[in-house]
Amino acid sequence: MIKIEGLKIKYPDGNTAINDVTIHINEGDTVAVIGANGAGKSTLLMSLVGIVPITEGTVLVDDLMLEKSTLAQIRQKIGLVFQNPDDQLFMTHVYEDIAFGPRNYGASEQEVRERVERVMRQLDIGHLARRLPSKLSGGEKRMVAIAGVLAMDPVLMLFDEPTSFLDPRSRRNLMPVFTKLPITKVIATHDLDMAAAICNRVIVLQKGRVVADGTPETVLLNKELLESAGL
Ligand SMILES: Nc1ncnc2c1ncn2[C@@H]1O[C@H](COP(=O)(O)OP(=O)(O)OP(=O)(O)O)[C@@H](O)[C@H]1O
Ligand SMILES: [Mg+2]
Repeated sequence: MIKIEGLKIKYPDGNTAINDVTIHINEGDTVAVIGANGAGKSTLLMSLVGIVPITEGTVLVDDLMLEKSTLAQIRQKIGLVFQNPDDQLFMTHVYEDIAFGPRNYGASEQEVRERVERVMRQLDIGHLARRLPSKLSGGEKRMVAIAGVLAMDPVLMLFDEPTSFLDPRSRRNLMPVFTKLPITKVIATHDLDMAAAICNRVIVLQKGRVVADGTPETVLLNKELLESAGL
């Protein structure tokens, strides 16, 4: 469903954050992307939705090539949940925040309402609908940010460190949400326990390159590999 081929991303200051990365993600995959600080996880996710421009290589989403002219279409298929929910939430009410995406893509008010209500049910956050996003707890903000992306009906969801800023209970509550979401997911994380618990595949990035790609059992039990990747 998504084919990343020979991807290279060089930032304007000359820093190469992603180097010769080839990854094919299949429908239904839940993929963990792990790696030390600065390995390129966030850069990789951001490049898939065109926030960071591609220097070399290609990204194909359901046979649609990622480029300027297809970006709007691709952003309907791929949703990114940012590491910091404060970067994602900006409307006055939770309901409005979740409604923003579908509304922006021209859904009718009735469809918007149906979608918002559906994702609030899916994530069990209906009680937050009239709250101010800025006054929510970290875990509640995370759920609302996920809801806003889910309301776009993406085929692939990208999560950048979804368990950061969460206390142990919120983190525990998030896990079943992931396993229940019937959607292809890529999760950049330092949380190896979560990767083991919910992912069917683990990719290790080191200095912008893929150094391992396999099942959680093979990758996460390979001590030497994890140590050499700085984990
Ligand atoms: N805007 C930028 N300009 C230049 N270099 C950048 C920029 N953003 C990130 N980098 C560099 O690109 C590399 C990859 O960074 P990235 O944020 O993708 O890593 P990461 O794996 O997400 O790290 P972390 O675990 O700390 O979130 C790092 O060397 C970083 O310094
Ligand atoms: Mg990051």
